[in-house]
Amino acid sequence: MANPWSSEIKFNRGELSLGGMSAVVLGNEFGTPSFFIDEDDFRARATSWGYSLRDAFGENAGTVYYAAKAFICVEVARWIDQCGIGLDVCTGGELAVALAAGFPPARMELHGNNKSVAEINQAVEIGIGKIVIDSLFEIERVAEAARAHGIRQKVMLRLTPGIEAHTHESISTAHEDVKFGFSIASGAAWQAVSAVRHHPDLDLIGFHSHIGSQILDSEPFGEAADRLITLLAKYRDEFGVELPELDLGGGYGISYLESDDPMSPNEALFALSAAVTAACQRNNLTIPKISIEPGRAIVGPTMFTLYEVGTVKEVVLEDGGTRHYISVDGGMSDNIRTSLYGAEYTAVVANREASPSLRQSRVVGKHCETGDIVIRDIELPVDIVPGDLLAVPATGAYGRSMASNYNHVPRPPVVAVSNGKARVILRRETLSDLLSLDV
Ligand code: LLP
Repeated sequence: MANPWSSEIKFNRGELSLGGMSAVVLGNEFGTPSFFIDEDDFRARATSWGYSLRDAFGENAGTVYYAAKAFICVEVARWIDQCGIGLDVCTGGELAVALAAGFPPARMELHGNNKSVAEINQAVEIGIGKIVIDSLFEIERVAEAARAHGIRQKVMLRLTPGIEAHTHESISTAHEDVKFGFSIASGAAWQAVSAVRHHPDLDLIGFHSHIGSQILDSEPFGEAADRLITLLAKYRDEFGVELPELDLGGGYGISYLESDDPMSPNEALFALSAAVTAACQRNNLTIPKISIEPGRAIVGPTMFTLYEVGTVKEVVLEDGGTRHYISVDGGMSDNIRTSLYGAEYTAVVANREASPSLRQSRVVGKHCETGDIVIRDIELPVDIVPGDLLAVPATGAYGRSMASNYNHVPRPPVVAVSNGKARVILRRETLSDLLSLDV
């Protein structure tokens, strides 16, 4: 049984509080829907991935790159910097946020399967730590940018090791039929190695793989590492030198429901270290520096969404049964994961002690679409009424970052709470923000 709530969440007679501030106070001050982020928990998670990498890999620990796509804003980029870990950006937009926060470029890496020439040029120009190359075209583009800037750019090749991680199809990335990287099995990876070696402006430091997301066991990570290390050995056999690094991506799962059982950073990384060590011994290879890119596992559990209930409705179904619909003041514009991936969440009444009798309910949003579902099936108290606050945990990753303006609904703010103080770190969008795009 795992707890989907962040560490500073408490419940007192049905009322939820974060860092000593009650849901009612937070809702009144910041409105709903809002994302509340547990700042201390975020910093603790970011730091503990860094410590665990060092504990598990010792002198072979590379960098923990926080995957900005899970959630980024200027203040969170500052926290990441203060925690001493790195940052993975995959667009010029994410890079702009990092630069606005003063994040050191040397501790950043650039990803993406279709980086624009402008994005590549900017990354090279600011001295980004490394660029993870995804196609043969990109090899030429990065080489060109490096030549133009008179530098030798550190690069990795993103490889698809052919692992089927057991997760939703849209977030599984390393089987063969995907747009990402170079397949090892087809020979594309080896072709890319030769292409990079033709370029004196590119410094190939190693291989990268990211096998998917919300993965709850260590085995697929170990298998991916094994396949990349086999290729490192082939490189050594062919060229007589060893590449110094591997980046094994993100994908570490979290608990959305109490029944989810995620790995702790230590569990995940000691298991990975055992797999890496065994594969290196088998191939008689020096253990490379190992980097990872957790996004969800750092930010996911640290936020909850607070909604206000607007209506409740009993709907008679074709088979004569009924379904209890509870509508909240957000929905698919702040959490697309339920409709996109069939993701499951839990929720609690956050403003009062609700009835202990429960009934099967469906929590839906305010958008003009039947698929606008926050939680498809959940047992919730029978006495929920308009005006109640519903809190949904574990919405930190890919919630606000995938938010949309569907139906011209302004995107919710992110409010940081620590030690009895709450402050907006990303403000709520306003109707004038939305109207400002019309010309
Ligand atoms: N590194 C690379 C190269 C990635 O593509 C990703 C995620 C990560 C790291 C971070 O993965 P994480 O540790 O957060 O699982 N929108 C989906 C997830 C898409 C993940 C895309 N890549 C969702 O809401 O589940």
